[in-house]
Amino acid sequence: MSATHQLRCTNCGARIAGDAVRSDFRCPDCNGLYEVIYPWSEGAGPWNAGVGSSNAPASSPANPPSTPSANISATASSEVRLPNPGGMRHLWQERKTSTMPVDQSGVWRFREMLPFMRDVERVVTLREGNTPLYEMPRCAELAGVDWLLAKHQGMNPTGSFKDTGMTAALSVAVERGFQWVACASTGNTSAAMAAYAARAGLRCIVFIPEGKIAWGKLSQSMDYGALTVQLKTDFDGCLKLLTKLVQQFPIYLLNSVNPYRLEGQKTPAMEIVEQMEWQVPEHLVVPGGNLGNSSALGKGFLEMKHLGLIQRVPKISVIQAQGANPLYRWFGDENREMKPVKAETRATAIRIGNPASWRKASRVIEETGGWCEQVNEQEIALAKAEIGAEGVGCEPASAVTLAGLKKLVAAGRVTREERVVLVLTGHTLKDPQYTIDYHKGELLTAAEIASETEAERASHAALRKPPLVLEADEAVVLRALEERMAKANAAETQATPGTSK
Ligand code: F0G
Repeated sequence: MSATHQLRCTNCGARIAGDAVRSDFRCPDCNGLYEVIYPWSEGAGPWNAGVGSSNAPASSPANPPSTPSANISATASSEVRLPNPGGMRHLWQERKTSTMPVDQSGVWRFREMLPFMRDVERVVTLREGNTPLYEMPRCAELAGVDWLLAKHQGMNPTGSFKDTGMTAALSVAVERGFQWVACASTGNTSAAMAAYAARAGLRCIVFIPEGKIAWGKLSQSMDYGALTVQLKTDFDGCLKLLTKLVQQFPIYLLNSVNPYRLEGQKTPAMEIVEQMEWQVPEHLVVPGGNLGNSSALGKGFLEMKHLGLIQRVPKISVIQAQGANPLYRWFGDENREMKPVKAETRATAIRIGNPASWRKASRVIEETGGWCEQVNEQEIALAKAEIGAEGVGCEPASAVTLAGLKKLVAAGRVTREERVVLVLTGHTLKDPQYTIDYHKGELLTAAEIASETEAERASHAALRKPPLVLEADEAVVLRALEERMAKANAAETQATPGTSK
């Protein structure tokens, strides 16, 4: 029986069998990262040709993949059955009423798009995915578009998008017989890995930068029983060290250099179009850290187009924090040289200066016609408060999407009538300290506040809701409430002149 999938180096095109990959998930010839391909993938060609022979890549820059239409006939002639788009849509819908755990998962419900498990019974699932797509009318107005949606990946079991990737890669660890798994993390990957490892009965080690992860995330990995190692370095230092360790011990690496992670993380693309009744938004806006997620979502949309599930893909734009912006700089560098930066941002989830998947993500941006933007700390804080005030909320790293969208609209890159989906990657409860500091007026420095425009200052003033501390006395409380209500009414009348209340 031929293998259901292979790994293809995204740099030199060399292909290997899934279980032949090195423990650091790097190509031995060129150090590139792999992607998972299937017999039906674009450029897969005759399925068993070239596998494992890195000297004869089936598809490389010098030997480019065939066009989609040519590819379909090539795969058809070698008797590869392409998944049928109509059949898949029907099946995915039908599984929504199933009681089987794999069908209830918003990742494995789409398993025809990620057929790499030999035995689907061994899948480790917490019923991830199935996250809401919220309408965001007030944020739409603030950004200057008519229709804005938010795909809230923070509504996953451990509160971030990492669950969709973790169910995929950790299931592979189980199938390959690993006892130990590990990751370096800014907090969310470690929380997700710890939960899924606990479900599977595997042992896990997390490496996190000391003092630079939000409490919510650190507490999760402890709660789920991980061995938590805080290193006196940043995320990039943690990943570098772990990459060396996995080459010496039988530990399965679960960072997004592991291509199976990205297979799970591509499924929100399917959910989004399903939730939009198979219409495709014009734009998708994603935060960028290690750049695995934007790569995964791009893969999902491009594969759906290749298989005929959709006719076009959205423009995918990646937003980075200004203090952690290596991809943004790369796009602006005429020599196109990737220069790692010393990352610094309060959005600790994306405090990453040397992103592993920058090549994959830059290709997704270029292939889909999107952009890379950067936003500063004030813009992130404001956008986070605006998303919160919409009753949705998210963690700081997710808020870069709204802040970035405002810039894309201002630059004319997104027009008012285009439909935009923001990918909110983490739950607001992941980093409550950030939110509390913001509302108490203790988040930003005096210098940061001084550089704000009048309009920004007014927006912050309207959004900030510091808690009132009062004596437990009826008269005192009444007076305070009356004052607040009068203020709120006055502000509302000012905002909408001519409205009779
Ligand atoms: N948003 C959140 C909430 C994240 O936790 C991360 C990454 C990102 C965005 C960026 O995604 O790395 O795929 O570009 N967090 C990783 C972690 C690095 O360890 O939890 P990316």
